Amino acid sequence: MTIETIIKLSYLVSAILFIFGLKKMSHPRTAVQGNWLGAAGMFVALAVTLFDRSSIHGYGFIVLGLVAGSAIGAYFAKTVEMTAMPQMVALFNGFGGGASILVAGAELGKLLVHQGPDSARSDVLIATAASGLIGAVTFWGSLVAYGKLQELKVFRKPLSLPGHQIVNGGLAVLLALLTFWLVQSGGSVSAYVLICIVSSVLGVLLVVPIGGADMPVVIALLNSYSGLAAAATGFVIDNSVLIIAGSLVGASGVILTQIMCKAMNRSLTNVLFGVMEGGGSTADADEVYANVRSTSAEDVAMILETAQRVVVVPGYGMAVAQAQHAVRDLANILEKRGTNVEFAIHPVAGRMPGHMNVLLAEADIPYEKLLEMDQINPTMETVDVAIVIGANDVVNPVARTDPNSPIAGMPIIDVDKARTVIVIKRSLSPGFAQIPNPLFAADNALMLFGDGKQAVLEIVTALKENM
Ligand code: TAP
Repeated sequence: MTIETIIKLSYLVSAILFIFGLKKMSHPRTAVQGNWLGAAGMFVALAVTLFDRSSIHGYGFIVLGLVAGSAIGAYFAKTVEMTAMPQMVALFNGFGGGASILVAGAELGKLLVHQGPDSARSDVLIATAASGLIGAVTFWGSLVAYGKLQELKVFRKPLSLPGHQIVNGGLAVLLALLTFWLVQSGGSVSAYVLICIVSSVLGVLLVVPIGGADMPVVIALLNSYSGLAAAATGFVIDNSVLIIAGSLVGASGVILTQIMCKAMNRSLTNVLFGVMEGGGSTADADEVYANVRSTSAEDVAMILETAQRVVVVPGYGMAVAQAQHAVRDLANILEKRGTNVEFAIHPVAGRMPGHMNVLLAEADIPYEKLLEMDQINPTMETVDVAIVIGANDVVNPVARTDPNSPIAGMPIIDVDKARTVIVIKRSLSPGFAQIPNPLFAADNALMLFGDGKQAVLEIVTALKENM
């Protein structure tokens, strides 16, 4: 068997591992295994590529990159807070796009130096243009997404230029012309550099007008773009495993984007062209919160003692407070008393897809107890007590009532329809979408102000004392 055949077979093994890894990642119970399979696939692909002596001229830079990259990766994997994962994912997407620009650019340079101008095939040049274009859109779009997720002041409000869509359309036409130039010229470096610059501007312009609450869709889309950029680069350097891995990321990212669009009730076309529905909220917080009633842990315990059916709705604040273990203790103590406890999971609760599922699984809460929004909403009228822990936007009834709200049309968990709603959060501060929530002042709602974990522990203590 030649070395070339061994490399090709190993790439096939990697691809199979990626596909099975993805399959396993589609369920929380097998997700960790799926992650390992994907990592094993990547290890095989990398190791085999390093043995491909025909295209490697020296290991010095490779080892340097591996050591530096591994050290930075390990440091962040150890230190990054769970709540900062979405920002990290945004950066990973961006770096994927950045790497595609550099690899495709280097390949173009290599071709021109070693084989002279006009030596590049048109299909390779089209792939080079696609790598630069999608890579730069992904890189800069992801950096803006990072800024929005990090809630940096400059990105806090959606920014739209006059004629924003016309400018975007103009840039798209310009990119088509530059790609034509790159191909016609047999690989003009100037054309490639211009493609990268114009795409960078497009990447920023596509993401800046998108409101905070719609970020889940954007992140999923940028994830998909990073895969497409990698696949295009795979064609440039003629590497089958990169084409397959990139296509898998691209395709799964599109599926995730569709799931997020459905969760947010947004149309994919609007997302693709960077237009999001909903303007700014007009509601004034002081007016909305005129009749807020607060409560104590002891009173909440008393209310819970008589409840038959309790639904817990976790949100980003539960992740910040790391309250999942305390929540599990609360659920256990209530169930011991004969209360039925369920968890209602909104698809965009928290800051990344599956955020709440991961946290609750970490606390050993059985998957059967986690109900999706569509399952729980039709039965919400029969819920005695809904406990909202650190959730805000995903339970904000304004999404149903105010067409001008940034979250207009987004399906929410209808906790306002439960008999009693207990909202645990530290203050009346808004959530990610930066809008007031009339639920907090509803007749059936009581606010338990405090840190999520502390408040739940206090309820558990009060329940134990009353047992
Ligand atoms: P948010 O609307 O962001 O509200 C979280 C609430 O948690 C805040 O109002 C905050 O109020 C409270 N909180 C923070 N720390 C707390 C603590 N230690 N203890 C108790 N409460 C605490 O969260 P959500 O309802 O989960 O909605 C998610 C939002 O993020 C949506 O707008 C969604 O579109 C967006 N988003 C989601 C994703 C994905 S994929 N899930 C990605 C990006 C953005 P206080 O400060 O008053 O405590």
